[in-house]
Amino acid sequence: MAKASAKITTSSTAEYFSKNLQQVGFSSQVKAVLTTLKEAVDNALDACEEHEILPEIELWVEKMGSGTLKGSDKIRVRVLDNGPGIDAEDVPKVFGEYLASSKFGRGRCSRGQQGIGISAATTWAQLTNATGARVISKTKAMRKAVSCTVEVDIKNNRGVVKDRETLDWDRPNGTSVEFTIDGRIQLNGEAGLLNYLNGTVLVNPHLTLHYNLPTAAGEEGGKAMERTTVERVSTVLPQIPEATEPHLHTMKLGEFIAHSHLFGRTKVSAWLKKGYSRVNEGTIKELIGTGLKASFFEKNVDALTDVEFKDLYTKIQNIPLMAPSTRSVLMIGEEALAKSIQRLGVVDFFSVVSRKPTICDFKPVEVEVAIARLQDRVGESDDPVQVLRFANRVPLQFDKAACAIVQAIQTVNWRAYGLGQPKESVPIGPYIIAVSVVSPFIKFKNASKETVDASEELVEEIRRTLIQAGQRLSKYIKKEFRANELEEKLRYIEQFGPILVDGLCRITKSNDARKKKAQDGLMKILGRDADAASTALEEAQKKLGGAAVEADVIDVDAIAAEEQMPAGKKVKKPKAAPSKSASTAPTGKKPKIILPKKTAQTGAK
Ligand SMILES: Nc1ncnc2c1ncn2[C@@H]1O[C@H](COP(=O)(O)OP(=O)(O)OP(=O)(O)O)[C@@H](O)[C@H]1O
Ligand SMILES: [Mg+2]
Repeated sequence: MAKASAKITTSSTAEYFSKNLQQVGFSSQVKAVLTTLKEAVDNALDACEEHEILPEIELWVEKMGSGTLKGSDKIRVRVLDNGPGIDAEDVPKVFGEYLASSKFGRGRCSRGQQGIGISAATTWAQLTNATGARVISKTKAMRKAVSCTVEVDIKNNRGVVKDRETLDWDRPNGTSVEFTIDGRIQLNGEAGLLNYLNGTVLVNPHLTLHYNLPTAAGEEGGKAMERTTVERVSTVLPQIPEATEPHLHTMKLGEFIAHSHLFGRTKVSAWLKKGYSRVNEGTIKELIGTGLKASFFEKNVDALTDVEFKDLYTKIQNIPLMAPSTRSVLMIGEEALAKSIQRLGVVDFFSVVSRKPTICDFKPVEVEVAIARLQDRVGESDDPVQVLRFANRVPLQFDKAACAIVQAIQTVNWRAYGLGQPKESVPIGPYIIAVSVVSPFIKFKNASKETVDASEELVEEIRRTLIQAGQRLSKYIKKEFRANELEEKLRYIEQFGPILVDGLCRITKSNDARKKKAQDGLMKILGRDADAASTALEEAQKKLGGAAVEADVIDVDAIAAEEQMPAGKKVKKPKAAPSKSASTAPTGKKPKIILPKKTAQTGAK
């Protein structure tokens, strides 16, 4: 007799995620710490943004001892925000229930989209340390803050509250969430916490961040902590654009059917018009023209069969639809980016570009790029530039090869803008290239949202933005290059000029006074005259707003002469001298270049 088939069981969403946490960012010890931090910070930023609060976030990542997993540490991650707070009855849903979110399918450019993030962190804490999330939260309406531990009831996908109490809190509203997890702290490198924090700061100019991390020595085993504050550079809140509905031409059949379940007892025509962008009465008429009956659109959505769904879907794909509106995308803006990038270190010069929102793959998209040369990285001239990638203002730190952003960077000819670049790679040098892609419908390659899917249209749009930023940057690089070249020429004349004067004086039997005059004249022509040099220095100091200038510096005027800039006196250009490019010239002390003040889009410090 044939054996009865095994009993079919179903599992809760929480059960699924608890077994597959690697899919949502908990695939290694290092990632576990980063993901936990990231989920909490992203939520804090989203919550502040929605309630028009300028975010001030403080965070702690601290090693507490050894973890329970082999080779892991016990890590405490705490994030404290000044956001709106969470109603007491919502606390278990937020931290202990999967697919509980205020952001589902809203067509907004929020960081969170899925309702998974923070419950996954709670699950990881529970699995590795047998404790859930420790939460304190207070809304303006609450007299006292609520404090409790939330755990995920994995069998039933429910949040369970423990140790609940109320307390007086020293803030009117906000949320503090703390996890004790197994993991490992990595501060530096692409997957490091600092990379995440720097990136977050860059694309959130309105954020004030205080972070408490182990000192470098602490990372090795000690527990010393260091507090760093990064002040906001903008008090302008991001303008949250109107939400937009998805576009029918971006849906797969399965998504199309799943989307209908959100509407249920609605007429087909109402579902299409309400649930999708760019669908109106004209679209329904056009569909009737393809052979569908008018009565079909009067049916209830939940009465449609799979065959009917498929037929409707196919017909929709074959009618023209207007591309979606681009009004739903959110921009950081060139001005704010220009200020923010200077928080990442001592910047020589930078360029930023915010492209106009556009449509890629029928989805509204906005690409912004910031490129900066950092003074403290000049030692790394042969290393690849640091690439910072962002999707909806969340830093992406893994799986970069497959990412649309990296692919776009590799296709740009950076040599044309003065950067070194090995064939078909990212350029090299002490630069940061930051690329932010914002869209209400970003397509990630996986659920852990680490890589933006590299569609041809999106790669091209990013590439165009990079080219624009590269062109703006090249203005500075070329200026510097020309100044270096000029300095080399001057050095040659300086070296051979006196020998020439000597020889000429001997031939013409000139006396010492005349010889001295000729030598002084030569120095003057070279612009090495002491008075001229100090004027140039003063001029440069004024431009820098009084900042210290190194002594061997500058030939601002020479640069001005070269560039025809109105500022400063112009010096006479020396006549032709042996020409050699800066990169191949004999090494000497490189002159430091002071460039003109920044414009809105590009700048120099
Ligand atoms: N610090 C906070 N302040 C206020 N509300 C919060 C905070 N953290 C979370 N929430 C609320 O809890 C919900 C669930 O958060 P969760 O991180 O699980 O999902 P999400 O952010 O919506 O999506 P994703 O899974 O992509 O992160 C959020 O949608 C938000 O409404
Ligand atoms: Mg979230």
